[in-house]
Amino acid sequence: MTELHKIRVEVNGALVERTVEPRRLLSDFLREDLGLTGTHVGCEQGICGACTILLNGRAARSCLIFAVQVDGAKVMTIEGLSNSGAVRHLQDLFSKHRALQCGYCTPGMIVVAYDLLQHLPSPTAQEIRDGMSAALCRCTGYVGIIEAVTEAARERVAAVDCATPVHMTSD
Ligand code: FES
Ligand code: FES
Repeated sequence: MTELHKIRVEVNGALVERTVEPRRLLSDFLREDLGLTGTHVGCEQGICGACTILLNGRAARSCLIFAVQVDGAKVMTIEGLSNSGAVRHLQDLFSKHRALQCGYCTPGMIVVAYDLLQHLPSPTAQEIRDGMSAALCRCTGYVGIIEAVTEAARERVAAVDCATPVHMTSD
């Protein structure tokens, strides 16, 4: 009989305690045990990015992580990011730029974009392209997706510039 492990993990700000098999994938744990089906599963090989979540504040592939490995960690899923409003503007920009294409990869795309902008507040065009390559689009293309993330990045830079005090010099 498979040995079970008790884990305690903070998911979307709430403490969760569950008993899991050692080989239970985090993606399955989130979707099937916690009902957080916004985390999608595509390749299950760490390639497509559909299963991306934040693990202790950084983007991670939940299909490559066992649930027992997140014992004591903080996990944020697309539900947590959406409900808190943290990705509301990104979602609006994806809509504006028609980047909501197949929809299946979109939660992962939003998490990847959020992580990119959190850790690289003023990304270059190439850094945006490189960053968003962590979420595969196999249906349409990246034009709208890149436009949406680029606009979000541009707005962040403008907001920071406006908030930065201008030091006047007197002669
Ligand atoms: S399902 Fe995890 S990277 Fe594709
Ligand atoms: S937008 Fe989902 S695969 Fe292209």
